[in-house]
Amino acid sequence: MNTLENTVFSGSQFRGKSKILEIIRGIEINKTFRAAIKLELFTLLEPKPLTLVEIKERLELHGRGLNDFLDLFVSLGILHRDANGIDARYSNTEETSLFLVKGRPYYVGWWFEDKMQVIEQSWGEMYHALKTGKPQRTDLKDTGDSLFNVNYDSNQTALVFISGMNLAHFGSFRSFVESFDFSSYTSMCDIGGGNGLLAIMAAEHHRHLKCFSFDLPVIEHFAKEKIEECGDSDRVSAISGDFFKDDFPKVDVITMGNILHDWSPEEKKILVKKAYDALPEDGALVILESVIDNDRKSNTPGLLMSLHMLLLTEEGCDFTESEFEKLVKEVGFRKIEILRLDSDSSAAVAYK
Ligand SMILES: C[S@@+](CC[C@H](N)C(=O)[O-])C[C@H]1O[C@@H](n2cnc3c(N)ncnc32)[C@H](O)[C@@H]1O
Repeated sequence: MNTLENTVFSGSQFRGKSKILEIIRGIEINKTFRAAIKLELFTLLEPKPLTLVEIKERLELHGRGLNDFLDLFVSLGILHRDANGIDARYSNTEETSLFLVKGRPYYVGWWFEDKMQVIEQSWGEMYHALKTGKPQRTDLKDTGDSLFNVNYDSNQTALVFISGMNLAHFGSFRSFVESFDFSSYTSMCDIGGGNGLLAIMAAEHHRHLKCFSFDLPVIEHFAKEKIEECGDSDRVSAISGDFFKDDFPKVDVITMGNILHDWSPEEKKILVKKAYDALPEDGALVILESVIDNDRKSNTPGLLMSLHMLLLTEEGCDFTESEFEKLVKEVGFRKIEILRLDSDSSAAVAYK
């Protein structure tokens, strides 16, 4: 019998929050956040907290919707508000202060202006990526060029890429250097270290360590400048090289932050083997990535990152904890440990 109830509910027991609606909200939040960047809201709030009325005047806004606009960011943990009511003042969180204030060393606002179009373009091609298995970002598809050649096409594109990496990985690097036991090691090299962020953090947190950041010659100046700016040149050095062609430095700990997922299974193995060869007995290789849970059911950021690799690389993909263990044990490492960091990433450690 096809009653109205059967037609409307199709016999489903579904109730509660809609997961599908959450996906639509992602776009709404993204667009609203980009309006805040365009208005330079976070730069305005940096010198001192402001009330809604002050923000309205300073940004020359109409006022309608402004309380919702500001409180949305409070609800998302992007802004603080010190009270309720009209006298309440809004201020930046530590994260917004670090990354969203114009003129600051780690400013990434441009990521939400220029770079977001590139992200929208490539993610908009997911259907074709799944059909063809080929990278979809226009500048890679049209030229057949590799990801890093394109990223480092000019000083500005390199700067945008590197600052995005800092935004994405700052929190996990900090969490790693605070939680990993470096006491029995004296040296560390971050392979593919970009502008040296992880090497600098490790050296600053562990005063006995000598640290190196190894990356392509084209971005060496970014690392040298950052090391200089942080006043760490006595214990942190930038090394230029190609990690497929050049030997890794002989150090006690080799880290690779978000490196292996860029490459094919064979290339991953080459990099892990090079680390093994460079390390002493008991040395450690640490992979900092959003390593996927073995059941492949819960780590949404890791699964998204792996799909990002589908869109950007010929054969890159992320991997599970078991796949990491298999890979490093094949190369000769004797045991592994997974450290859950206070972020989307884990530190997967392999001991020689
Ligand atoms: C995804 S980024 C990760 C940067 C940094 N480790 C982080 O987690 O923020 C990959 C890094 O690998 C570097 N890289 C790519 N190919 C390389 C090569 N052949 N030799 C050395 N570094 C390379 C890039 O320049 C870039 O800094």
